[in-house]
Amino acid sequence: HMERGAMEQRVREIKQELGSALFIPGHHYQKDEVIQFADAIGDSLQLAQVSAANQAAEHIVFCGVHFMAETADILTNDNQTVYLPDMRAGCSMADMADIYQTERAWTTLQQTFGDTIIPLTYVNSTAAIKAFTGRNGGSCVTSSNARSMVEWAFTQKQRILFLPDQHLGRNTAFDIGVPLDHMAVWNPITDTLEYEGDIANIQVILWKGHCSVHENFTVSNIEELRRTRPDMKIIVHPECRREVVELSDDNGSTKYIIDVIEQAEPGTSWAIGTEMNLVKRIIANHPDKDIVSLNPNMCPCLTMNRIDLPHLLWSLETIMAGKKGNIIKVDEKTALQAKMSLDRMLARAN
Ligand code: 13P
Ligand code: SF4
Repeated sequence: HMERGAMEQRVREIKQELGSALFIPGHHYQKDEVIQFADAIGDSLQLAQVSAANQAAEHIVFCGVHFMAETADILTNDNQTVYLPDMRAGCSMADMADIYQTERAWTTLQQTFGDTIIPLTYVNSTAAIKAFTGRNGGSCVTSSNARSMVEWAFTQKQRILFLPDQHLGRNTAFDIGVPLDHMAVWNPITDTLEYEGDIANIQVILWKGHCSVHENFTVSNIEELRRTRPDMKIIVHPECRREVVELSDDNGSTKYIIDVIEQAEPGTSWAIGTEMNLVKRIIANHPDKDIVSLNPNMCPCLTMNRIDLPHLLWSLETIMAGKKGNIIKVDEKTALQAKMSLDRMLARAN
């Protein structure tokens, strides 16, 4: 058992020793104790971009969740190894679409709509789902580029299957003018399409998945805040439910939220609806602004939080000892097809 200070010191030593052979990407939702050692901090799009750009570091210790480490492995070369400091750092949303459910859905949807659908998958999905998307002509999206990717998808096909996050899909499609009654929901548990009306009108099929962190921001949180703090502006992530996004003043990706607060006037007041570690960091970085979490219970992402200082250090020590620990390796066929869907996104990113 090591003291925190000693652990930090050892991480610094290892980083020094490995130099550019080591690269630590860190997602904005990571804890401060981890983020302080990140070589690049970003949202999921930025981390995919920096992973693709770094073809030199031999060891990539990914501080984020499993699907992000898989993406990094897919985008880097065979001489680079990606590690996830704790294998239990998954994503409940990504787990809501497995490949068997997805293939079943695709078969039914092809029977129903013929060749009029293109899949779009949020990067918060397993490599197998990205591969499914790639081999069926579709693309990945992130919350930063969802809008332009949905617009692109409609230049390809008449309909979109958006997975696994129904909220990002609904919010984004609504933003570009698709009426809510032209959106259906695919229920992967019952293998059925939830829709009332003429199915010929369906433009977007939303996978019934969600983020358990962002679903914790509610209409009653907003009502409470509007009553007690009418001066506060509310900004939320588009993984929040439609009603919550609708009642907010603004919504956008992790990076968008950070930028809006950066550019806000000193003295302004904000309630933010996104992950707790990031909200806490934004509060700390802006003492000149009055900032709170939209949900007073803060809403941590439990799986993101599984990456902590002891796990980061353990991961680095296994590298130093030349052992194989927590390596993320996507099989070649899956990686190749998944890369097609990532490349389609990266070619149009931003
Ligand atoms: P972004 O990083 O794309 O904003 O995604 C949010 C998220 O939930 C990551 O897990
Ligand atoms: Fe998954 Fe939501 Fe956590 Fe992001 S915040 S890793 S989408 S559970």
